[in-house]
Amino acid sequence: MRKFLWVMALPLSLLLAGGGVAAAQSNKGFPYNADERAVGPYTLEDPLCFTDGRPVRCKAGWKARRSEILSLFEREMYGRIPGPEPLHLQTLEDGIMSDGSLRRTVIRMRFRPDCSGPCIDWTVFAPEGHNGSLPVVLMLRFADGTTELCDPVQAVTSRGYALVCAFYNDISPDPARAELQDSLAFSGIFDLWPDSGTPDGPRALGAWALALMRGMDLIETLPGLDAGRVVLAGSSRLGKAALVAAAWDERFAVICLNQTGGGGVTLAKRYFGENVLSETSRFRHWFSPAYAKYAGCEASTMPFDQHLLVSCIAPRPLLVEGFDNPWFDTRGEFLCLKAASPVWRFLGAEGLPDVDWPDDYDTSAIGPVLGYVRRDQGHGIAAIDWTWLLDFADRALR
Ligand code: GCU
Repeated sequence: MRKFLWVMALPLSLLLAGGGVAAAQSNKGFPYNADERAVGPYTLEDPLCFTDGRPVRCKAGWKARRSEILSLFEREMYGRIPGPEPLHLQTLEDGIMSDGSLRRTVIRMRFRPDCSGPCIDWTVFAPEGHNGSLPVVLMLRFADGTTELCDPVQAVTSRGYALVCAFYNDISPDPARAELQDSLAFSGIFDLWPDSGTPDGPRALGAWALALMRGMDLIETLPGLDAGRVVLAGSSRLGKAALVAAAWDERFAVICLNQTGGGGVTLAKRYFGENVLSETSRFRHWFSPAYAKYAGCEASTMPFDQHLLVSCIAPRPLLVEGFDNPWFDTRGEFLCLKAASPVWRFLGAEGLPDVDWPDDYDTSAIGPVLGYVRRDQGHGIAAIDWTWLLDFADRALR
């Protein structure tokens, strides 16, 4: 009865899509809501309660709840998170860069005993002449440029961190055109798994997340890098992959997720910005086919939302940097962090600062352990994002 009354209270124009809210905008032909007034009511599951309603009472209980959440996300959203171990590392290049301040090393990682098949080429940039072991920023990159001395190489190394990175399309191709997504998309590292491209098999975000976990394995083998002080970073689709990696793998000390948007940190049930229909139609290879069933009925049918996945990162330091653009729904990211924050407190860490959604460039929601900040003007990790990120990491690793 209450639900009926709520639906009747909405103007007819709001009853078009997404569980009863407006489809005011369109992006590449996909409708999306960009009107805060059209966000309908939704309920977020309590991260500190098991699916059967039992409360989590102790740290061991949280461990079990965390496993329950990860299984749910494998089944319903990201597909199986696969796990081949790297078998063989080969240094392809090693030398001092032209200005003398950085050492650049390219290492090929292989997975099969006979060294055939897929590989990942990692590039390590490390400041020369340092003593002791360096903290590290680990990330996947959109660019194949492994030699250029520019962002993020300069941003990271000038702050005394090493940068370990790989080109994400080398790990598994990311075709934009839907007709290529069922074939070309499941190549590259997918050749390691017999069930590649099947509904229950691994999907692209999981494959890139796996690469990040293997990047951590690499760091553990490299003298001069401190595997206990690894900052995992990523932007946009590569931020979504970093979120998955951080939720699954507890070795990353600090996590910084930049402009991840839908399928990343933001809440699907708000039905604001990118939504399940656009995600699973434009990027079929990113998500499990099981996720598509929630398209258009996120708020009323989804038994989970992204705050549950985010809570699996607790109690480690996490900074979320949002992009003030309706498609990326960064208010949803802030609300997601608020909903996950009780898990940090439960585990004895400080939660998100108790402030309202901050304005662009306002850093008042960046706490020592959990933080949020947003800005407008340009998609991607800009100089100001690196400053927020590395300031946060410096404090967290101190
Ligand atoms: C698109 C997509 C987003 C993604 C972004 C990117 O905007 O809808 O989900 O994050 O591309 O990766 O650049």
